[in-house]
Amino acid sequence: MLPISITQRYRKKYLVLQREETTIKATYQTTPTTAILEPVIEIYGRAPLSGEVRISGAKNSALAIMAGTLLCADDCRLRNLPALADIDRMGQILAAIGVKLKREGDVLDIDARNIGQSQAPYELVSQLRASFFVIGPLLARLGTTQVPLPGGCAIGARPVDLHVRGLQAMGADVRIEHGVVHANVKGRSQRLSGARIYLDYPSVGATETIMMAATLAEGETIIENAAQEPEIIDLANFCRSMGAQIQGDGTNTIVIQGVERLHTTDFPIIPDRIEAGTFLCAGAITHSEISLYPVVPDHLASAIAKLREIGPEVVIEGPDRVRLVPAELRATDIETLPYPGFPTDMQAQFMALLAVSEGNSLVTETVFENRLQHVAELQRMGANIKVKGNTAVVQGVPFLSGAPVMSTDLRASAALVIAGLAAEGTTVIQGLKHLDRGYEDIVSKLKGLGANLRRIEP
Ligand code: EPZ
Repeated sequence: MLPISITQRYRKKYLVLQREETTIKATYQTTPTTAILEPVIEIYGRAPLSGEVRISGAKNSALAIMAGTLLCADDCRLRNLPALADIDRMGQILAAIGVKLKREGDVLDIDARNIGQSQAPYELVSQLRASFFVIGPLLARLGTTQVPLPGGCAIGARPVDLHVRGLQAMGADVRIEHGVVHANVKGRSQRLSGARIYLDYPSVGATETIMMAATLAEGETIIENAAQEPEIIDLANFCRSMGAQIQGDGTNTIVIQGVERLHTTDFPIIPDRIEAGTFLCAGAITHSEISLYPVVPDHLASAIAKLREIGPEVVIEGPDRVRLVPAELRATDIETLPYPGFPTDMQAQFMALLAVSEGNSLVTETVFENRLQHVAELQRMGANIKVKGNTAVVQGVPFLSGAPVMSTDLRASAALVIAGLAAEGTTVIQGLKHLDRGYEDIVSKLKGLGANLRRIEP
């Protein structure tokens, strides 16, 4: 149990604020502001959380594996699929290529027997960068494909040169014309050849593209300086469950022996480590004791280590459950790195936590060139943050204050939710299209933990 002082002090503050809150809430509700034109989330901050939250399937694993189903001229079944806008978009892109899909709850049946040359529509690809992952499987299956260049997004230019160079090394002729990547396997066999490929950067997407293409290539492919994220291992497990021969996934060297064809599978997606890290930050910032299930504790090692530095304890309760025990929050430093380093996808959420952690924290973003846009919105809520280059100096403040804020990207929107849970007064978050891409039912899940928030549709 928490030392009584923290709980009492926190709850006392909350009760005081709640009374004030009621006034604020009453005012807000009785004197409606301008009509809202898009959905918003309204959070009445300072409510302590408790209980257990269910973690959904991993978005970034599900997206790569959905592309991977193109490798199989048979039926495939995926389980534990999260209900997210990005997953829906990937389904639309597969359907545009000729794939038949049937979704029931978190189960998705996919039939990629008859995939054609029809090109995934640019308007879909531009909204979902991960759709570019179809290029490897399509080239491996058909020997030729055209995929629109995904283009950049809010957090960076997001080039695909490492994907392209890997496919070229495997014998593909790849040209980019009018924003479309045209790829064709040279030679009569129309079959990619195994190759030794060194990645200048351990790119998650490039590792996934090359690994998938290599499963059906002729001979052996070695990927050096490969990404080691858990989603790479999940994709490799998925491909192995269809008969692929892959070793070394999860290390920086992956070896794939190409096979003639792959067969049907029924595969469950791993839990989402980034969603889990997001809820751990929500518990820590509201000084709440909460449990998360299912999780893979190993996938959270760097986030757990950082939380322990900040103060809260994370108790590992068996193979798929963790419990957060809150504590006073102290500053620490964070530098985002490829796995097993601290994940860039948790940087914004931890910055919200550090904004109310005593002392000065340095947060350095090394993976993407523009992933500090949440700073301006946190500053609107009273955070004391200064940015110089790709580093933010976060000086902890006692409380944040609720304010209308705008989401700029997926993980920035999660950071604003976390900040709103701890802020005095009401926070109204706009730009929910970002949040809906990566968080399934986050309002219901937070309400289930006792948070005081609601989603208002126009
Ligand atoms: C994946 O993106 C994730 N997305 C991202 O999650 C995650 O932030 C990222 O990996 C890093 O972990 C999915 O899996 C769908 P990268 P990806 O290729 O594959 C540069 C989220 O919030 N690069 O590892 O695009 C690139 O510019 C999202 O869920 C090249 O230069 O990431 C970046 O600076 C955001 N050339 C760095 O590598 C290339 O060909 C890391 O990118 C490819 C990448």
